[in-house]
Amino acid sequence: MGADVIDAKIYHSSTLGRSLDGPWGVLASTAAAGLGPLVLEVDGDRWTYSYLDGTLHVLAGAIEDPWVRVSMSSIAWSDLASSTRTFISLQLAGELEIAHGSFSRLSRWECALRALYLGVPAYDPERVALVDDVDAPIDLAATVSLDDDNAYLASRLSTTGYLHVAGVLSPEEVAQLADEAVRVAGLMDRSDPFTWWAERPDGSDVLCRVIYAHRMSPLLGDLADDPRMRRLAGLLGSPVESFLDRMDGPTLLMKPPGPLRGLSNLPWHQDCGLGGHPVICPAVSLGIQITAASTERGCLEVIAGSHGQSIPAGIDVDAMETWPRVAVETQPGDVTVHVMDVLHASPPPTGEGGRTTLYLSYYPPTLSEHIGPGEAVNDMVRGRQLDAEATRGS
Ligand SMILES: [Fe+2]
Repeated sequence: MGADVIDAKIYHSSTLGRSLDGPWGVLASTAAAGLGPLVLEVDGDRWTYSYLDGTLHVLAGAIEDPWVRVSMSSIAWSDLASSTRTFISLQLAGELEIAHGSFSRLSRWECALRALYLGVPAYDPERVALVDDVDAPIDLAATVSLDDDNAYLASRLSTTGYLHVAGVLSPEEVAQLADEAVRVAGLMDRSDPFTWWAERPDGSDVLCRVIYAHRMSPLLGDLADDPRMRRLAGLLGSPVESFLDRMDGPTLLMKPPGPLRGLSNLPWHQDCGLGGHPVICPAVSLGIQITAASTERGCLEVIAGSHGQSIPAGIDVDAMETWPRVAVETQPGDVTVHVMDVLHASPPPTGEGGRTTLYLSYYPPTLSEHIGPGEAVNDMVRGRQLDAEATRGS
């Protein structure tokens, strides 16, 4: 599963030179500004990456006293080079040996390496122009509707990485979905492996997510094929498909009212942050709003225009203070659309909480070649860890 293996020696002796001299090299130099030298060792071969006079340089061999030095297997580096796995997932798997410096220094190199290896730019809010096709600033809080034409909607999505589409479902459809959500929730208990639970202050469990929700309610799965949803998913501009039987399928997310601990909130992330980028991106997720959502209820929040770019893992919220952060506050029947690598979060409610949303996700049609039924990205990442362990043991 995953990407083909990229040979580090061949890459550094041939492909690298072309990348450094071309636009990816420019992006990588921009992302490497201010970083000290990195020594990369792959199965005993060493290269020094250094930023000097505005340019990223890569030379064979290791300098004596780098800022950070890391060694890894050829499988680990190949996965890093294709973004099948990222530094954080390699670190969690124990596949990085940092002989000098720290993991935090290594992480700061990740954006430059992704730019060099894949041409993915580092996110810089100064560089992203959140303007429409006549250069007028986009009102980030403005809703769109199905009455808007596709060219306009696609252009908005491509610039901001998200849309808030108002009034997609009728009140009758919303009422039917709300009944289904209550019915499905009533069928679940802790023994169901496709449920997530949070904890109330008194220690009792409360259901916060049902994945593969069409198991109990075919209606929730059928919606993925609804022409309105397919139209919205198609705005991404590249072919995408809904896979009911993998990547968690239709997902019913609930944020029950009241203070909760555990899995009901999600920190800032990109969906390919742990890996899987060449398999799952570009992808898009639709959030069908069964109840209203607001910051008081813990709604979806996004950093407008951050999609298609690298953002260091574990970025702290203070560093994001000047970034264009948008809370997508919705009414029942609205649909949110977000590109899955836009930086997004489902923060804790600032008030009482209480929202229910059905998420439907759409991925490249080739996803099924890499991720099997019942599997998701973490299974693919785990599979690569097992491959690496088997290689080390052989
Ligand atoms: Fe996400």
